[in-house]
Amino acid sequence: MNILIVGSGGREHAIAASVAKSGRVKKIYCAPGNAGIGMLAECVPIGAMEFEKLVAFAKEKAIDMVIVGMDDPLVGGLVDELEAAGIPAFGPNKNAAILEGSKAFSKDLMKKYGIPTAAYETFERAQDAEEYLKKQASFPIVLKADGLALGKGVLICNTLDEALSGVKEIMEDKKFGSAGNRMVVEEFLTGREVSVLSFVDGKTIKIMSSAQDHKRAKDGDQGLNTGGMGTFSPSPFYTDEVDAFCKKYIYQATVDAMAAEGRPFRGVIFFGLILTEKGPRVLEYNARFGDPEAQVVLPRMKNDIVDVCEACINGTLDQIDLQFEDNAAVCVVLASDGYPVAYEKGFEITGLEKFTEKEDYFCFHAGTKTDEQGRIVTNGGRVLGITALGGDLETARGKAYEAVEWVDFANKYMRHDIGKSIQESKGNADSSAFPSK
Ligand code: AMP
Ligand code: GLY
Repeated sequence: MNILIVGSGGREHAIAASVAKSGRVKKIYCAPGNAGIGMLAECVPIGAMEFEKLVAFAKEKAIDMVIVGMDDPLVGGLVDELEAAGIPAFGPNKNAAILEGSKAFSKDLMKKYGIPTAAYETFERAQDAEEYLKKQASFPIVLKADGLALGKGVLICNTLDEALSGVKEIMEDKKFGSAGNRMVVEEFLTGREVSVLSFVDGKTIKIMSSAQDHKRAKDGDQGLNTGGMGTFSPSPFYTDEVDAFCKKYIYQATVDAMAAEGRPFRGVIFFGLILTEKGPRVLEYNARFGDPEAQVVLPRMKNDIVDVCEACINGTLDQIDLQFEDNAAVCVVLASDGYPVAYEKGFEITGLEKFTEKEDYFCFHAGTKTDEQGRIVTNGGRVLGITALGGDLETARGKAYEAVEWVDFANKYMRHDIGKSIQESKGNADSSAFPSK
């Protein structure tokens, strides 16, 4: 098969590495890709939002399957365009990707179908939101821009003043663009967060092994929210009890709700869960693999990813026995110092060759490129994701922190406590999940 992957981050590198293991694959292309993906695939200079070019390219190269990694093209309807041209594509149609594309939609869906989530109100006008906050709200409270905002459209406000300036930022100053045309105001929940990714074929859902992301930029969950500074899988807090609850009230219920709405979902549903004292609640849905969740979950998957994606497209996922290794993975993100605000790019990365032919160690590229002189240089905030596998989380964590020293570049920055909370909070699952909020 010829496979085209759409995207350019660590997630797409992890997808490409999984696809490369498949015995069914002849050639992998990636649009636009990055320097690391270029070692496994032919990168083509087409942007993820250039739908016409992507469709033309897929036709020209007789692509048998397109895997769309990123949220923007999914929400924009790339899968529909590919299907219209007769090209099988993995990922939700536009009318289903709205599960991620509109927080108001996803909240209304959960309410209508009784899926446990935080209480909320939706507003179309800043004035109405302000009045509500003045009259009704208790603090902290959570404001969410309705649309896609690079993971930054969520504000946790401790006081009325903070909330009012949040409304202004989202709805009046349009800090997140048209994503702020509507806004959700939501009850603040506390608990341990868990990411659960799943494969879905429109009716059947198969759950992948759990993961946990570290979203804050600095050690001890301090600093600004980022796309994710590191992950580990599985999450020890995702117990059998939590799993049973989610299977009963959340996973199949979501898939059935989408089908009942005439929006059958095919692709990956990423459940952003919070384990509250009253039980698990859905914080958000994403319509794609997580980044960097994919970098710890996919290396642990036993199945051929191409078989699984094909089953999602064909509606035969019930015939797949999805299996994960009985091990653990930790991914530490190496970022450019200053991320997520301001940082320099273009620094040479050394030591990458140390990862070749090392079992259990992966170096997933996020923001990298090959410069005119053929050197691999930094090209983004999150530069590399260093993943290690081990028999248990502590072993995987030790190996990942050993491997982060193999590579170097100017302004290299990382957190030193990825996966550390696992040990510190044993038996104390949710008391320290939000130390800085
Ligand atoms: P989201 O993009 O909806 O996942 O929100 C980003 C982050 O904001 C989440 O991972 C949580 O850490 C936090 N968050 C979102 N909604 C809530 C909520 N209702 N209560 C507490 N924290 C939240
Ligand atoms: N790591 C969180 C996300 O991919 O949305």
